Amino acid sequence: MQDSVSRREFLGAASGVAAGATLGVPLTRNPGFPAIRIPQAAKNVAVASGNGLRGVELAGRLLIEGTDTLDAAIEGVKIQELDPNDQSVGYGGLPNEHGVVQLDSSCMHGPSRRAGAVGALEGIKTPSVVAKYVLLYTDHIMLVGEGAKQFALSYGFKEEDLLTDASRQRWLRWRANRGATDDWINVGDDERMVARETGTININTVNSRGDISSVTTTSGLSWKIPGRVGDSPIIGAGQYTDNDIGAAGSTGRGEANIKVCGAFLTVENMRRGMSPTDAALETLRRVVATTEARLLDDQGRPTFGLTFYAVNKNGDFGAATLWSGGQFAAFDGATAARHDTAFLYERR
Ligand code: GLY
Repeated sequence: MQDSVSRREFLGAASGVAAGATLGVPLTRNPGFPAIRIPQAAKNVAVASGNGLRGVELAGRLLIEGTDTLDAAIEGVKIQELDPNDQSVGYGGLPNEHGVVQLDSSCMHGPSRRAGAVGALEGIKTPSVVAKYVLLYTDHIMLVGEGAKQFALSYGFKEEDLLTDASRQRWLRWRANRGATDDWINVGDDERMVARETGTININTVNSRGDISSVTTTSGLSWKIPGRVGDSPIIGAGQYTDNDIGAAGSTGRGEANIKVCGAFLTVENMRRGMSPTDAALETLRRVVATTEARLLDDQGRPTFGLTFYAVNKNGDFGAATLWSGGQFAAFDGATAARHDTAFLYERR
């Protein structure tokens, strides 16, 4: 990782791990777990949500140049975090019900087995980088709210207004129309009410040495109750890496994912021998089984969207979603492209 000198010093001081001893974790390190041995990748691969095409292209190129897997993944998601036109992530993300953008992110670095996360972070464009700093420089895993912001400011991150004119417009229209009996004057009937959206970017990377990392970052559910934290910053839900097996992450309804620890479960499904796509589909079946009745249609199918993306140590990758029609992005070792996402249900 960038800052690797500081990181090694930290690891050496905190745990006695020798400097530079973060790569080449032996496959036998978890003797108590089912021991499916996934061969090591001979290629550099990145898999992401559909908005991550530019991200996987950059991450793939960086991996080929020898950049650490987590740094490559974070450089990939930063493209969306800094893009004001992606209203699901970082700068320009849609705000909470008070008009404040609150960002969530988490990451895991397979070789060093470390994790970092931030929740409900305000005023900082790149929460993925702040999550990496939590991983690098603290003995904690997650910082939230004002504490996360103060932590970021202490490292020189700049506090900025993350609400763009476009995202403010959408928030104002939502506020005007949300109720007939509130104090806001509704906009005209011909103006469409803006649907609530959940957007996110997840990137998972594996390099030709078989090292693996993952990162997820989001502005979360639009118009959310202030302080609401979704799945993205939850290690094991929004993303998860096991350097022996693979990595997985998610986009979509965080509340449904948190209940099944979906990224962790997807990695565990791969540990049991499933392909990344099958592992993600199996996780979705668990999501369906744990969904409360009010969120199911008359055929018992969830009415929300949720997608998992996964890569294994061999560089095989895939994604699965509840409803047909989705695409995900991947760099397969040579080129970046969008692929159709496997699904549980055909959209009518
Ligand atoms: N998956 C993003 C969220 O629910 O916040």
